[in-house]
Amino acid sequence: MTIDYDSIIKTIAALTEGETDAVALMATLVCELHHADDRFDWTGFYRVTGPEMLKIGPYQGGHGCLQIPFSRGVCGAAARTGDVQLVDDVDAFPGHIACASSTRSEIVLPVRDGSGDIIAVLDIDSDRPAAFTGADAQGLVEILRLVFGRLRG
Ligand code: SME
Repeated sequence: MTIDYDSIIKTIAALTEGETDAVALMATLVCELHHADDRFDWTGFYRVTGPEMLKIGPYQGGHGCLQIPFSRGVCGAAARTGDVQLVDDVDAFPGHIACASSTRSEIVLPVRDGSGDIIAVLDIDSDRPAAFTGADAQGLVEILRLVFGRLRG
């Protein structure tokens, strides 16, 4: 099954209408996203909890590492640069953090609140090589903007 971004954004909008608690929003998103696509083997948030520090948030899949400094990993790169990280081969990404040895590709997106501040990153791992596309990046950016753009910094 492959995700339909036009459809899932409507579902997520309905499920999260009026909600402004970040953890509740994250938990709802990872549930809906993870079960919408067979490519998604780990789906989760890492939250900005302090200067240059990410800590795990709601996720679906096997256990993830608890803390990631901005200096490390694909998640740290997304938080540090503010850019989407679309990684076709995690073994070719310097400093990739392997929470599961089965992971082959990954997409990590910065999550911004209504003030434009980065409050978290969304990390999706796949056991398939080069699993993610520009269309995934575009769809996920739109979902994150819809859901977290309502939050006040
Ligand atoms: N692969 C990520 C770490 C998070 S685990 O994959 C859930 C990274 O390199 O930042």
